[in-house]
Amino acid sequence: MTTLSFSKDKIRILLLEGIHENAVASLARQGYTNVERLPGALDAAALKEAIAGVHMVGIRSRTKLTADVLDAAERLMCVGCFCIGTNQVDLATARAKGVPVFNAPYSNTRSVAELVVAEIIMLSRGIPEKSAKAHRGQWLKTATDSHEVRGKTLGIIGYGHIGSQLSVLAEGLGMRVIYVDIEEKLPLGNAQVRPDLPTLLGESDFVSLHVPATAQTANMFGAAEIAAMKPGAHLINASRGNVVVIEPLAEALRSGHLGGAAVDVFPSEPATLDDEFVSPLRGMDNVILSPHVGGSTQEAQANIGTEVAEKLIRYSDNGSTIGAVNFAEVALPPHRDVTRFLHIHRNVPGVLSSINEIFSTRRINISGQFLQTDGEMGYVVVDVDAPIEAGMGIRKALEAIDGTVRVRFLS
Ligand code: NAI
Repeated sequence: MTTLSFSKDKIRILLLEGIHENAVASLARQGYTNVERLPGALDAAALKEAIAGVHMVGIRSRTKLTADVLDAAERLMCVGCFCIGTNQVDLATARAKGVPVFNAPYSNTRSVAELVVAEIIMLSRGIPEKSAKAHRGQWLKTATDSHEVRGKTLGIIGYGHIGSQLSVLAEGLGMRVIYVDIEEKLPLGNAQVRPDLPTLLGESDFVSLHVPATAQTANMFGAAEIAAMKPGAHLINASRGNVVVIEPLAEALRSGHLGGAAVDVFPSEPATLDDEFVSPLRGMDNVILSPHVGGSTQEAQANIGTEVAEKLIRYSDNGSTIGAVNFAEVALPPHRDVTRFLHIHRNVPGVLSSINEIFSTRRINISGQFLQTDGEMGYVVVDVDAPIEAGMGIRKALEAIDGTVRVRFLS
């Protein structure tokens, strides 16, 4: 009898849009060598053809994995978005087909934090204005309103991955760091939490926003918050474009209430590189404008390559779905000396007992079981310590359970 086994070179992987070499290297290190790489995105028809028979697909933001394309991917096991956003994938359809989608939300944390540090120093010295004037032939050689950042106060709104990384870097420059967050967060170094936003704004020479896009953060920084900032203070937004209301910001910069600003994200951003960037902040010498590049570095791309490839490998090798954006998250121990069955199903009553019955009627001992349900879908992982051989009918029996979407086994 042949023992059931899982051969990695049979796993077909398609990587589109010039995904970083690190992804290929990570996959190869773990034995996944059946990789096809394409430099660009494909249109729907070409994509449907290319994705047929593929087990894992890696994309960036330009590949649209619609329901139609996913229907053509009958073998697809998981999707890696080698970027932050995942709205190019029909996540609900992928989920209903039992296909977890992974991304890399934190690979560019450091890149954003470094840009903000640079902007704090530039704003503190009035460099945006001095540079703009020099380009126009003016020589603004003065120390007026030019300051070191050492000893100044940085107020961070949102002390998550980026906010806390910024906190460490800013303290390295000798800044005093205070923050607010809706969650209780451990202060790093000598940073101190403040009880509310007005308190933070009243103390900060620099205010930097690092909150996510939520209903609560939409337009959270408007005329009242800007007015509550110290005269001459600086505002930095590299979070989301709709967090700051732009008109009152432009007005405070014109009136001199604020000393300057650095803005990387905007309520309305050009859809393509050829579209014009339109903003009331254009033409203001005391404002650093950047085209949503806070996280865009070669190092972040390399980190993304590794991070997403590792999530795909972990799912394929051991069934863990940690980091999936559309799927019940299950962290699984390694499955040495056991066979692991993965059962993805619609969340209907009776599935778990049917699974257990399949093993108990064959007198197979279950050594570990993990269950996670997530609304409509359920994910059960069963470890058994008996040798499993072809012909036992386990796979067929699992597939026959009502509500089953997909069955995999790893040995
Ligand atoms: P994160 O999820 O690690 O941290 C966000 C923090 O904000 C959390 O601690 C959360 O509790 C807190 N928070 C949520 N609502 C809040 C509120 N109303 N008031 C105060 N705190 C609140 O996210 P991460 O990775 O630090 O990213 C932060 C932002 O940066 C996100 O909006 C992300 O989209 C953006 N970003 C921008 C990039 C760029 O290119 N400019 C690149 C990467 C991220």
